[in-house]
Amino acid sequence: MSNHKFQCSSCSSSYEPSPTLLECDRCGSPLNISYVTQLGSDLHPTRWSGHPIPLPLDHQKDLITLGEGNTPVVQLNNVKNRIGAEIYVKQEYMNPTGSFKDRGTSVMISALKSFGINELVEDSSGNAGASLSAYAAMSNMKAHIFVPESAPAPKIGQIQVYGATIHKIPGSRDATTEAAKAFVRNNNLVYASHNLSPFFIEGTKIFAHEVFREFGDHIPEDIVIPVGNGSLYLGMWKGLCELKESNQISRIPRLHFVQTEAVKPIYSAANNVAWDTSMIRETRSGGTAVGSPPRQDQVIDALIRSKGSCTTVTEKELIDWQKFLASKEGIYAEPTSATALAGTEKLIRSGEIGKNSRILVPITGSGLKDDQPN
Ligand SMILES: Cc1ncc(COP(=O)(O)O)c(C=O)c1O
Ligand SMILES: [Zn+2]
Repeated sequence: MSNHKFQCSSCSSSYEPSPTLLECDRCGSPLNISYVTQLGSDLHPTRWSGHPIPLPLDHQKDLITLGEGNTPVVQLNNVKNRIGAEIYVKQEYMNPTGSFKDRGTSVMISALKSFGINELVEDSSGNAGASLSAYAAMSNMKAHIFVPESAPAPKIGQIQVYGATIHKIPGSRDATTEAAKAFVRNNNLVYASHNLSPFFIEGTKIFAHEVFREFGDHIPEDIVIPVGNGSLYLGMWKGLCELKESNQISRIPRLHFVQTEAVKPIYSAANNVAWDTSMIRETRSGGTAVGSPPRQDQVIDALIRSKGSCTTVTEKELIDWQKFLASKEGIYAEPTSATALAGTEKLIRSGEIGKNSRILVPITGSGLKDDQPN
């Protein structure tokens, strides 16, 4: 018997786990993993946390891994001088393919492999596609990756060198998703969507467990995350809830998120401001450029429950921060990651985050994988 079920994020209907079920049959909402029993799995202290973490695998040795996770945390003094608050960054770009996506891919691909799946389709602004391509390569799976035609050349090159078949789609990031879904339907393949697969968040949640290992019950009061679909944000929330339910932490930090002025569906919905995809503008923050994020309601629920806040940043602000991080701290983040720092500065200025707070920000992806800043 499996140690988990799929559970609807909206109506709570539950389903037997399946590689092809990506939304609730009854209401169409995205699905989450719900653990039936932890006894069925061999829960041992993991290499990430030193304490057991429930994973949707029969045995933790089934995990397909390239050594993701265990990324370093550093304190940034020049950023502290600029924003006036203590700040830590967790260097997620040091994951095997250069972004935090490897955490989710590792667990998702392990689960799909255990179903006997050997061919996958995924759509991505670049990082998730590169990640899936790498893990598919090392586990002898075939990957089809759909990317926007405008995706940065280094990311496209990375996907190709891992041996995936690449499909470049003109138009928006959402057009890429539609093309991938049509390809899945027409070829009867498995859609390994990092946005819809409930397995992906089970990997990103390990970020929270590592933060606990690093800080114990003194986790920074405020955590700021760039959000497109919200896979790291929701993983962080799920991991923190697991830590709280198992009484390992006494309080949940505030989870804030940042989007850009160019693409801000979740920010707008959270603030009851009208916004639709016809208002999408070009942005250098490709990772947050998602017009219709399927897990939007879940992100807003976590925002409210963690008492977090959200903000948006302009193109100028995020590029300014990308350059500041590189030239003052030696951290070459990609523009999407710099949005989180630009947003942090705004949340401090607006008083949403207090100056006495300690703040944690993930540097989600590497500048080496994106177009150079002008
Ligand atoms: C570097 C980087 N940071 C953040 C994000 C946002 O992640 P999510 O869409 O899961 O919110 C992405 C997504 O592609 C990304 O590539
Ligand atoms: Zn439902």
